[in-house]
Amino acid sequence: MEKTFIMVKPDGVQRNLIGDIVNRFEKKGFKLAGGKLMQIPSSLAEEHYGEHKEKPFFGELVEFITSGPVFAMVWEGENVIATARQMMGKTNPSEALPGTVRGDFGLTVGKNVIHGSDSPESAQREIGLFFNGEELLNYEKNDQNWLY
Ligand code: PPS
Repeated sequence: MEKTFIMVKPDGVQRNLIGDIVNRFEKKGFKLAGGKLMQIPSSLAEEHYGEHKEKPFFGELVEFITSGPVFAMVWEGENVIATARQMMGKTNPSEALPGTVRGDFGLTVGKNVIHGSDSPESAQREIGLFFNGEELLNYEKNDQNWLY
């Protein structure tokens, strides 16, 4: 089953949004494979956002994502990568639809509450950066037969 990396950013943690975000993914039917509250070291932040190294906002992005705890998660389910992106809404909250995480809670493109992998390649890379194999659980859930 497909897996994706989702992270509640420091602004989301400070604004008490972890529970709401986890709730949305649980209610949708996705299965939590791993999760942890962590403070991202600069080296990991720079690697995670490596593709934006040349962008003018790179320094600001790394500074922000390392500024406080984040809640990192791996969610599992059919088409979870693309569906999670829909649930998050557009990167710029002013373009994100109501009902999406960023549409409901975000105001600026920097402090936009949540990060999610944008492709199968990024999902694999980001899960590998943030989690080791032992931190991801493979377990039975009773609701699965009612979802698929
Ligand atoms: S781009 O240029 O289209 O590739 O960038 P984008 O996909 O829109 O954004 C990539 C991540 O950078 C964050 N971002 C910013 N942070 C701070 N300041 C500014 N101006 C800014 N613009 C974009 C944005 O929140 C994205 O973070 P993630 O965690 O990937 O969603």
